[in-house]
Amino acid sequence: MKQLRIHLRDSYDIYIEDDVLHHLSFYIESIYQNKKIYIITDDTVEKLYLEAVKSGLKNYEVESVVVPHGEASKSIEMYTKVIKELLDKDIRRNELLIALGGGVIGDLTGFVASTLYRGLPYVCVPTSLLSQMDSSIGGKTGIDFYERKNILGCFKQPKLVLIDPKVLQTLPKREWNNGMGELIKHAAIGNAKLFEMLKSKPEINENIIYQSLTVKKNIVEKDEYDTKERMLLNFGHTFGHAIELKLGLKHGEAVALGMLMVIRFGIDLGLTEEICYKELKEIIKLYELPYEEPNYKDYLLEIAKDKKNLAGKIQMVLLSSIEKPFFYPIEEKHLKELI
Ligand SMILES: NC(=O)c1ccc[n+]([C@@H]2O[C@H](COP(=O)([O-])OP(=O)(O)OC[C@H]3O[C@@H](n4cnc5c(N)ncnc54)[C@H](O)[C@@H]3O)[C@@H](O)[C@H]2O)c1
Ligand SMILES: [Zn+2]
Repeated sequence: MKQLRIHLRDSYDIYIEDDVLHHLSFYIESIYQNKKIYIITDDTVEKLYLEAVKSGLKNYEVESVVVPHGEASKSIEMYTKVIKELLDKDIRRNELLIALGGGVIGDLTGFVASTLYRGLPYVCVPTSLLSQMDSSIGGKTGIDFYERKNILGCFKQPKLVLIDPKVLQTLPKREWNNGMGELIKHAAIGNAKLFEMLKSKPEINENIIYQSLTVKKNIVEKDEYDTKERMLLNFGHTFGHAIELKLGLKHGEAVALGMLMVIRFGIDLGLTEEICYKELKEIIKLYELPYEEPNYKDYLLEIAKDKKNLAGKIQMVLLSSIEKPFFYPIEEKHLKELI
């Protein structure tokens, strides 16, 4: 078992433990004394784990709300549907929600928990690799609206996060890739020891998840509301976002290629150590993610055209070497010189 305490305005603990899914009461009893619990999950995770979770919550009266799996459930329609179902089940103020699922369920449940009755406590039980090693820290909640991702949301920290690495055994390969891209990113920007470990393709276990979460913890604790340091987590994302839809990639796969592109960019500028490229590529290959990255020059202009960047600078995150990220703002007018 590994434990991490996240020190924010509302601090909380994360426990990473094989089979914790089967005895959630053990931890939940320390933060919640009422009788009723409402689990929000998706239809895939429901079939695999809902019964096990319920049987580990014997001392509670447990209700569940199930939404279809996938990003489409982070919608205003699903948000209102979940709230209606909770109200129909007579949820009261101060009763506990559990988010059982991947990042979609975490973001949706967190948003429900932050708005219903002006705020309810919630516990995260992340089940995808991405949600276990990334989105369970930081308290970003939200839904998509008007074709914009995460456009409605707020910061709300869970009371507790309980991670069972064993549930990853049922995760499909593309969902693994999705998490691995971000896990490798954490190693590259903030944990040289983890980066070394990944070179021998270790099994993703309690310790690897712990190491990855520690990187995000250190960054988020310095910048809870995402105004500066937290943007370091965007390493690989500027190019990643540009290629994700175009090449039909999962987000984490696009981030993996985006990291290779931005490292090549940094090397060409004389700001990144050359060895980073070779080492990162080997790890990405080892975990069977896409590794043939497009030429970054083909995407620089497109990035400048992106609505988000029009107002001023493009805020790139570069690496000088592993574990040494830094911000590299580029004025739009200088972009052409870089191509
Ligand atoms: N809040 C944050 O800080 C943060 C950070 C990163 C990403 N996100 C959000 O997270 C979402 C992506 O998360 P995700 O990749 O977990 O997607 P997801 O929640 O859609 O899960 C991916 C798929 O895997 C299935 N699944 C989950 N656990 C499983 C298991 N143990 N076995 C078998 N199948 C399982 C789900 O049913 C789903 O079909 C995006 O909406 C993104 O915006 C949020
Ligand atoms: Zn990402």
